[in-house]
Amino acid sequence: MHKTILVTGATGTVGKEVAIQLSMMDEDIRVRAGVHSIIKGENLKRLPNVEVVEMDFKDQESLHAAFTHVDKVFMVTPFTNDQVQMAKTLVDEAKRQGVKHLVKLSVIHADTAPGFMLGRWHREIEKYIEDSGIPYTFLRPSSFMQNYIHYDAESIKNEGRFYHSTGNGKIGLIDVRDIAAVGVEVLLGSGHEGKAYELTGPEAISNQQAAQIIGEVTGTQVQYVDVPADAARSAMLEKKAPEWMVDAMLELESAYSEGRFSDTTDTVQQLTGRPPHSFRQFVKDHQESFE
Ligand SMILES: NC(=O)c1ccc[n+]([C@@H]2O[C@H](COP(=O)([O-])OP(=O)(O)OC[C@H]3O[C@@H](n4cnc5c(N)ncnc54)[C@H](OP(=O)(O)O)[C@@H]3O)[C@@H](O)[C@H]2O)c1
Repeated sequence: MHKTILVTGATGTVGKEVAIQLSMMDEDIRVRAGVHSIIKGENLKRLPNVEVVEMDFKDQESLHAAFTHVDKVFMVTPFTNDQVQMAKTLVDEAKRQGVKHLVKLSVIHADTAPGFMLGRWHREIEKYIEDSGIPYTFLRPSSFMQNYIHYDAESIKNEGRFYHSTGNGKIGLIDVRDIAAVGVEVLLGSGHEGKAYELTGPEAISNQQAAQIIGEVTGTQVQYVDVPADAARSAMLEKKAPEWMVDAMLELESAYSEGRFSDTTDTVQQLTGRPPHSFRQFVKDHQESFE
């Protein structure tokens, strides 16, 4: 009998990569890709061993259907200010339906003092999962390399610049492909229950270094512009970003500038047997996004 693995947020950055990598595994598994909207999930239907189900984290009926006959779950909840509540609803449903292993996408340093808002939210969800009795594994990645595609590529292409408030602070950036590879190992391997894995790339780099690498790979001039936090706040609010999100982003950028996220781990290598992608490799593999 095949095992059914539900991936939530399967059209998102991490969920999609997990669904793709799981679909390529030579194992007797069925991947159930949980998508918010069937239209966005259309491409996932073409993957081998993948079925697509519509699920709205706020709609109990859709959750019940999505979790039916599921053995394991890779749980992603979105970066929203109600993600704790959404996640708790998912955990409740997983418990009701007897899920045997819940792998939760969390964030690095979720339980490390002095803490930060996003970390506290993820830790609250982690604790809820611990208390649920469902066997679990927490993946706690550092900041995604893919953020440069989603948030910075447009201004890099248009102006040859990108803007943050991270000073010279270095960040142990990770490629989402490596998070997914760890997720696949944790879902299909054994001995990962009750563990929390802090995941980073091979080295910590500053935004100045990121700019230099993007420039070298694309053969263009790319400049990182360090913006004072007040100016960054005004710019984000002007673009109609919600205040909680501005607070969360600036808190993170301040922590980055203080070097609080500059540590690296060898967990990707340990769990997958190969080194994580470097930032240079990431840019090479997505060069068209920056040109
Ligand atoms: N970005 C980083 O550097 C970073 C680092 C560490 C941890 N994290 C954590 O990673 C998580 C986000 O992962 P991601 O970047 O893969 O997310 P993402 O790309 O924003 O994708 C979120 C997914 O959730 C779906 N979704 C949103 N609302 C939903 C709802 N009500 N019901 C069902 N599905 C819903 C989205 O579908 P639609 O688009 O169709 O709504 C999408 O598929 C967050 O918990 C964040 O804290 C992020």
